[in-house]
Amino acid sequence: MIGAPTTGAPGAAYGVGMRVLVTGGAGFIGSHTVIQLIAAGHDVLIVDNFANSKPTVINRLEAITSKHLPVHEFDLRDTERTERLFAHEQIDAVIHFAGHKAVGQSSQEPLDYYQNNLGSTFSLVRAMTLHGVAKLVFSSSATVYGANAAVPMNEDFPTSATNPYGWTKVMIEQILRDVAVAQPEMRIALMRYFNPVGAHPSGDLGEDPSGEPNNLLPYICQVAVGRLEKLRIFGDDYDTPDGTPLRDYIHVEDLAAGHIAALVRLDSTDRAVSTWNLGTGKGTSVFEMLHAFERAVGRTLPYEVVGRRAGDIAASYADPGRANTELGWSATHSIDDMCTDSWRWQSRHPNGYPDA
Ligand code: UFG
Repeated sequence: MIGAPTTGAPGAAYGVGMRVLVTGGAGFIGSHTVIQLIAAGHDVLIVDNFANSKPTVINRLEAITSKHLPVHEFDLRDTERTERLFAHEQIDAVIHFAGHKAVGQSSQEPLDYYQNNLGSTFSLVRAMTLHGVAKLVFSSSATVYGANAAVPMNEDFPTSATNPYGWTKVMIEQILRDVAVAQPEMRIALMRYFNPVGAHPSGDLGEDPSGEPNNLLPYICQVAVGRLEKLRIFGDDYDTPDGTPLRDYIHVEDLAAGHIAALVRLDSTDRAVSTWNLGTGKGTSVFEMLHAFERAVGRTLPYEVVGRRAGDIAASYADPGRANTELGWSATHSIDDMCTDSWRWQSRHPNGYPDA
């Protein structure tokens, strides 16, 4: 499997046979991770309230994996439901993706963001504690490096944020570190993603933002498919080779593989909390990304350079060395792979997932 751990016997390397609760399993990264968990021999159950995902994703997951997937539709902030789930199901580990994630919206609705992202984590970790579930992989973000970090960014950099969404990630990381001090038997992984893009190679699973996309690749996809008129490039006067900002785009399949590797590593580490960057280590500019996408589509795409977007930084890319060494994981997909797979998904499903 691409990007999977490379050491040890296959069975041992994949920690076969865990029953893994995936929160937000119908979301973009969650759904791709579910497929890889099953391919690696784990059992999966999903909690999702479909606040920002569609139930039809579950049908596609079942078709791709040929497995029935137990899905529990509720909001994790419902502490009774969450606890009941842990009381009734065998759960060996949790991968926690569920959460609000729109940077701009978080500044408009800060209370919602804090309440949802923190509240669901409190409820989940309390239930884990009560029922003796020690392994947790948390979906964090490179946003925790804040606005002033140097590149490449490593896990020992100080954390901060520039918006409420980013602060929820910083705060949850701190909360989990505090929990691990009180409960040293916990094994927690904080996964700091850079810029997830791409789609499942089948073309039937991908990113489906609601409303106008905020992120670069979904925006380009919708221009390419004719839903949006042109890309607006937010500034070409940064101190970078072509003047547009550099980001560390990572294929969602590589990201998913990083979670499987982390889950396995939690079995053998003595550390209660481990922090791993998931990135390629390479910075790609907005123009480079646009041109790669044009290659995938086979035509040029309309764009206009406009003013800078508030809060953007010139360069953000990972030092992925710790994940490479400790997880035996590295990203293997190229920028062209990311664009080809994103385009396959978007061209097959111009309007994303259907509602039902
Ligand atoms: N960009 C454009 N036009 C667009 C959208 C984006 O020019 O329509 C540019 C941005 O200015 C930036 C680059 O494309 O230079 C990437 O922007 P994204 O919005 O795709 O990604 P960000 O790096 O700003 O944000 C991402 C995630 C956040 C996360 C952050 C830091 O979306 O959740 O990385 O890790 F917080």
